[in-house]
Amino acid sequence: MATVLITGANRGIGLEMARQYAAAGDEVIAAVRKPDEAKALKEIDGKVRIEQMDLGDFDSIASLKQRLGDAPIDIAIMNAGWVGGGKQGVDDFDIEEWHRTLDINTIGPLLLARALKPNLEASGDGKLMNVSSQLAASTWPMGGMLIYSTTKAAMNKVTQILAIDWKDAPITVAVMHPGWVKTDMGGPNAQLTPEESASGIRNVIAAMTKADSGKFYKWNGEIHPW
Ligand SMILES: NC(=O)c1ccc[n+]([C@@H]2O[C@H](COP(=O)([O-])OP(=O)(O)OC[C@H]3O[C@@H](n4cnc5c(N)ncnc54)[C@H](OP(=O)(O)O)[C@@H]3O)[C@@H](O)[C@H]2O)c1
Repeated sequence: MATVLITGANRGIGLEMARQYAAAGDEVIAAVRKPDEAKALKEIDGKVRIEQMDLGDFDSIASLKQRLGDAPIDIAIMNAGWVGGGKQGVDDFDIEEWHRTLDINTIGPLLLARALKPNLEASGDGKLMNVSSQLAASTWPMGGMLIYSTTKAAMNKVTQILAIDWKDAPITVAVMHPGWVKTDMGGPNAQLTPEESASGIRNVIAAMTKADSGKFYKWNGEIHPW
């Protein structure tokens, strides 16, 4: 049985990963912004511990760490993400929204990962998976989506730096494009169901070893060109 921390576990891909890990008998620590509203999460049959945390509120990250202590965590999935609002063109973007999205998509996940380092080390074979996007890749040239794409690109670079700086720690760090998925973010026309994306991500995490640290994956296990 593994202990798996998932951010943004109240809906979308995060909720489905929580369901699948719990169904497999693992213990899920579900980090969500609004525990009172996490109805679907509370209906999961299995070991699910719900904890409050908002990636845009760094004090809440520190509070979560205090509650967790240094107890072992085998897998941490930085799944939560924010698209960055409606104004994302070069000629018309919202600067405040860009700062806020950088906090949620890049700086908050890094602060949480750093706080969880002792927990992942205590596992002996810790795995950290950052959920990014193909829009982070230079090999996916797409205009617009300035805020989302740049904050996810920064998350990819953070992943690479963590993999290098933690090379001597028993922690594998990787980053994931989860596919285009039918969620609130992906919309109804997306290619994959949350079930397909979540099970793919779980398979990748299960197969990862320390030699894979720093890799950018697709949900199906292929390496994403970056
Ligand atoms: N769906 C796709 O096609 C697709 C494609 C590429 C990458 N991704 C990435 O995959 C991940 C999951 O996406 P999804 O499709 O499941 O998205 P989603 O359905 O929109 O869910 C986003 C999750 O992130 C949480 N979240 C947002 N802001 C947060 C904050 N400040 N602090 C903590 N949690 C926050 C949300 O919580 P609340 O309910 O409280 O808002 C929600 O649980 C994201 O990182 C996304 O960028 C998705």
